[in-house]
Amino acid sequence: MQLKNDLLIRAAKGEAVERTPVWLMRQAGRILPEYRAVRESLSGFKELVETPELAAEVTIQPVDILDVDAAIIFSDILVVPEAMGCTYEMIEKRGPIFPNTVRNEQDLRKLRVADPHEHLHYVLDAIKITKKALNSRVPLIGFAGAPWTILAYMVEGSGSKTFSHARGMLYTNPKLAHQLLRMITDTTISYLQAQVEAGANLIQVFDSWAGILSPAHYREFALPYISEICNAIRNVPVTVFAKGAFFALEDFSKLNCETIGLDWNMEIDKARQQVGPNKTLQGNMDPCLLYSSFDSIQHETIKMLKEFGPHRHIANLGHGVYPDTDPEKVKCFVQTVKEYGTVVGEAKS
Ligand code: CP3
Repeated sequence: MQLKNDLLIRAAKGEAVERTPVWLMRQAGRILPEYRAVRESLSGFKELVETPELAAEVTIQPVDILDVDAAIIFSDILVVPEAMGCTYEMIEKRGPIFPNTVRNEQDLRKLRVADPHEHLHYVLDAIKITKKALNSRVPLIGFAGAPWTILAYMVEGSGSKTFSHARGMLYTNPKLAHQLLRMITDTTISYLQAQVEAGANLIQVFDSWAGILSPAHYREFALPYISEICNAIRNVPVTVFAKGAFFALEDFSKLNCETIGLDWNMEIDKARQQVGPNKTLQGNMDPCLLYSSFDSIQHETIKMLKEFGPHRHIANLGHGVYPDTDPEKVKCFVQTVKEYGTVVGEAKS
């Protein structure tokens, strides 16, 4: 069915848009009291992720409440290691923990390349239910973690400032790292293809820990696998968001994807030069702007929109919205993007 609001898809493909589309990474989550209400009625985060009707409900909340131009399916990048046999627990206020890490060949042998229809059916069901309930109002974004970021969690066993075990493996046992990356990539490709079949209109790949690698390691252990994923997803636009990977922007220009996500460490004009004219840029406001006054949010958001220009841009933050952000401030960011585009559009016509 034709989307009623397809600004995100047109902007991703570089087609003309009346105004810049806007959504926020982590828009479905703790910033919304409506999300917290659903979450508190359950045993934990995983129950929400694994119950398709509820995942669909919290996916749609930000579309209704924040008026964003896209929904992103409520799930987590960590469902992939879980499907491969490396289960995680989500500890309140601490984040994910993996009771069993992958540190040697023996650990690797316990893993499988997952079949999304068998091991991740709950995400595919959530996508189908969400699509029906959205009734084509806005596009639905599907996602997965990039292989390096998933390896980082599987090897480290939790979040970390240094990811020294994961990064260490690239020096001490690069062969094992490549074997694990191979299995993650194969799982991710069939998982993302299944998300598209289930109805996802755009795919975003999150390489959240890109910025901790040296450029040489990024080119050896991250880029080739991301490139394979981009080549395998061909019916919908693909966005690659590699947090902190300013050193790889020129490499990204060669990827078979439509959009590159920028974080707030990246200069917009330099990023545009490095990525070239043929890709859309997404981002890149510092999430901390949303702690400031309404005036300041409007002012900085307009400044950002001017820097990106009206074409080939999807407005977003440079990383996920922080959980203690006032939803009214998020609404201010969204409305500023929407009104600015409309004013510029009217001035032109
Ligand atoms: O709105 C959306 O963006 C969709 C939902 C979404 C979640 N996680 C829900 C979530 C998405 C796209 C993710 C991706 C994700 N998960 C990433 C990549 C993006 C990024 O932030 O860099 C990463 C690294 C993870 C792993 C993860 N999940 C961590 C480290 C944590 C703990 C930290 C935290 O934010 O609490 C999570 C938990 C998580 N994933 C929550 C949500 C809403 C909070 C847990 C809760 O509600 O109880």
